[in-house]
Amino acid sequence: MNSLRAVAIALCFIVALFGVLPFPSNAQLNPSFYSKTCPNVSSIVREVIRNVSKTDTRMLASLVRLHFHDCFVQGCDASVLLNNTATIVSEQDAFPNRNSLRGLDVVNQIKTAVEKACPNTVSCADILALAAELSSTLSQGPDWKVPLGRRDGLTANQSLANQNLPAPFNSLDQLKAAFASQGLSTTDLVALSGAHTFGRAHCSLFVSRLYNFSNTGSPDPTLNATYLQQLRNICPNGGPGTPLASFDPTTPDKFDKNYYSNLQVKKGLLQSDQELFSTSGADTISIVDNFATDQKAFFESFKAAMIKMGNIGVLTGNQGEIRKQCNFVNSKSVELGLVNVASTEEGMVSSM
Ligand code: HEM
Ligand SMILES: *[C@@H]1O[C@H](CO)[C@@H](O)[C@H](O)[C@H]1NC(C)=O
Ligand SMILES: *[C@@H]1O[C@H](CO)[C@@H](O)[C@H](O)[C@H]1NC(C)=O
Ligand SMILES: *[C@@H]1O[C@H](CO)[C@@H](O)[C@H](O)[C@H]1NC(C)=O
Ligand SMILES: *[C@@H]1O[C@H](CO)[C@@H](O)[C@H](O)[C@H]1NC(C)=O
Ligand SMILES: *[C@@H]1O[C@H](CO)[C@@H](O)[C@H](O)[C@H]1NC(C)=O
Ligand SMILES: *[C@@H]1O[C@H](CO)[C@@H](O)[C@H](O)[C@H]1NC(C)=O
Repeated sequence: MNSLRAVAIALCFIVALFGVLPFPSNAQLNPSFYSKTCPNVSSIVREVIRNVSKTDTRMLASLVRLHFHDCFVQGCDASVLLNNTATIVSEQDAFPNRNSLRGLDVVNQIKTAVEKACPNTVSCADILALAAELSSTLSQGPDWKVPLGRRDGLTANQSLANQNLPAPFNSLDQLKAAFASQGLSTTDLVALSGAHTFGRAHCSLFVSRLYNFSNTGSPDPTLNATYLQQLRNICPNGGPGTPLASFDPTTPDKFDKNYYSNLQVKKGLLQSDQELFSTSGADTISIVDNFATDQKAFFESFKAAMIKMGNIGVLTGNQGEIRKQCNFVNSKSVELGLVNVASTEEGMVSSM
C-alpha cells in the first residue's frame, strides 16, 4: 500500500513537472491537450467557421468531409492539406478529391487565427478534427469532446488516397472492406455515412443511376420514381457533370436523421448510400431502420464513430511536427518564405 502511494505521489510530481504522463505516447489523444497551451482554441476555430458559414452554409458539410478524407489516408495527419511540391504529390489531386474537396482556404484562415493566439502549438490535423465537430454542432448535429494532440505528418500519398477513399459506385461489401481496413465496423460505416445528411454532390457521381445504370439502359431500380424525376431535372442526360444536388432533399443543410428515412423511401443520392438499405438481406438494413426512427441512437453512434475515425493512425509525442502553414511541411514553408523564419526552430538554428 505504502509503495503504491509513493509511486502515485511520484507520478503526480512528474505530471506536474511535465504536464503529461511519462509513458511513451501510446497514440493517446486527450480533449484537454491544449488546456494550458491554447485554452481558447475551440472558440477561435468556431468563430471562423461560424463567420464563413453565414455566407456558405455548405462549408459545414465540406469541413466534415475534409477530416474523413484526411483520416482514411495514412491516418489523421493533415496529409490531405499538403500541396504539390518537388517532394509532395498532393492528395488533393486524387480522384475522390479533385474538383471536389472544399474548405482548404477556410482551414488556412483558421490556422492563421490560431497561430496568432498560440503560435507553433496547434496542429493542422487537430484543426481538422475540431472543425468537423464544430461543423456538426453548428448544423444542429451532435457535439462531442474532441480528443486532441495529433501531430502533422511530413508526407502525403496520392495513390493511397485513390486506394483507400471509397467510391460512390462501390458495392456494400467493398464499402465494408474499406472501413474494416481502417478498423471501423459495419455500424461505424452506417453511422458515418449519415454525414450525407448535409452537403452536395456533383451530377457526374450519380448520373449513371438516372439513365443507364450498370449499362442496363434503365435507371437504378432502387431509385424512387419521384426522386428520379427530380434528379433528372438537375442532371439532364448527356449534360454537364458539374451541377449539384443536395444529399438530403428534405433538410439539405441540417444534420439530422433524415438521411436514413430517405433511404427507406429509396431517396439515397449515391449508389453507396442506397445500398445500405436496398441490398437484400444486408445486416445494414436494421441499422438504417434504427437510426431512421431514433435520432439519439444515430447521434450516439455518429459521435463514437467520429472519435474512432479521428484516432486512425495519429502521430503523437515528438512524431511529425506542428506545421506553421498547413499546405507545406515546415522546411518548405521556410524555403518559400511563407513563415517568419525567426519564429521557427529552423530559423533559430540557422541564425545561431
Ligand atoms: C461510405 C463511403 C462514402 C462514399 C462512397 C462517399 C462519397 C462521396 C461523394 C461521391 C461525395 C460528393 C463529392 C462531390 O460531388 O464533389 C461526397 C460528399 C460528402 N461526403 Fe461522403 N462518402 C462516403 C463516406 C463519407 C463519410 C464517412 C463522411 C464523413 C463522416 C462523408 C461526408 C461527406 C460530406 C459531408 C459530403 C458533402 C461535402 C460538400 O458538400 O462539400 N462521406 N461523399
Ligand atoms: C476566445 O476566442 C473568442 C473568439 O475568437 C473570443 O471572442 C474570446 O474573447 C476569446 N477569449 C479569450 C479568453 O481569449
Ligand atoms: C468574418 O468575415 C468577415 C467578412 O468576410 C471578415 O472581414 C472578418 O474578418 C471575419 N471575422 C473572423 C473572426 O473571421
Ligand atoms: C495550395 O494548392 C491549392 C490548390 O490545391 C491552392 O488553391 C492554394 O493556393 C495553394 N496554397 C498555397 C499556400 O500555395
Ligand atoms: C503510398 O502508398 C502505397 C500503397 O498504395 C505504397 O505502396 C507506397 O509505398 C506509398 N508511397 C509513399 C511515398 O509513401
Ligand atoms: C448504356 O451504356 C452502354 C455502355 O456504355 C451502351 O452500350 C448502351 O447503348 C447504353 N444504353 C442506353 C440506352 O443509352
Ligand atoms: C417515393 O417517395 C414518396 C414520397 O415522395 C413516397 O410516398 C413513396 O412511398 C416512395 N416510393 C417508394 C417505392 O419508396
